[in-house]
Amino acid sequence: MYELKFAWIVVLLSILIIPLLSCAEESKEIKLPSPKMKGGRPLMEVLKDRRSIRSFSNKELSAQELSNLLWAAFGINRPEEGKRTAPSAMNKQEIDIYGAKKDGLYLYEAKKNVLIKILDEDIRGATGGQDFVKEAPVNLVYVADYSRMGDSSPESKDFYSAAGTGFISQNVYLYCASEGLGTVVRGWVDRDKLRKVMKLKENQKIILAQTVGYPSE
Ligand SMILES: Cc1cc2nc3c(=O)[nH]c(=O)nc-3n(C[C@H](O)[C@H](O)[C@H](O)COP(=O)(O)O)c2cc1C
Repeated sequence: MYELKFAWIVVLLSILIIPLLSCAEESKEIKLPSPKMKGGRPLMEVLKDRRSIRSFSNKELSAQELSNLLWAAFGINRPEEGKRTAPSAMNKQEIDIYGAKKDGLYLYEAKKNVLIKILDEDIRGATGGQDFVKEAPVNLVYVADYSRMGDSSPESKDFYSAAGTGFISQNVYLYCASEGLGTVVRGWVDRDKLRKVMKLKENQKIILAQTVGYPSE
């Protein structure tokens, strides 16, 4: 009799608690709208306009713009093979894109086209030494996960992840030039401080940051 009561309590609790737990898990993932893969200005005009901008308005990017931006940066353009808009050495896809926004730090998960909330705090100021980073709506941080790079030498890991980040960053430059957004890639980052703020693991290495937003008038 006692066992039966206990079993019922366990069943009832599971019915109540499991959906709550999965909701909490889901609420950390923000589904992005599907990226728009059509449109944009002609490539040669975009190349003509590509430049670094260091003065931003605080106007937020829409969810659609964020989705397009991240897809252009390093989204999946061949779903059947899981391959991406930027190349990576031996297709290791070791670069993760984090986005520091006013409402927190997010990780772009390209396969699911979602943003995963990592931190609730505004860490934009920690992503670089220049004043505009605190106020600009989005600061991307390119982080290499060396554990995905097999047994390449430490020098190769440094070299390939820096090269891979260059391609991603240029995709961001081209998307921004096409859409009238401003951007600047940044090496001036206190990496030791930022890795602590971002709570990165030992195998993760910050390569560069890149600010994105509307240029101020
Ligand atoms: C690897 C790398 C690191 C850079 N770091 C910074 C930086 O920390 N801060 C900054 O304002 N610009 C930075 N830049 C942007 C360059 O200053 C900029 O590209 C250069 O002045 C040429 O200007 P343009 O991009 O408008 O052609 C960096 C560029 C590269 C490629």
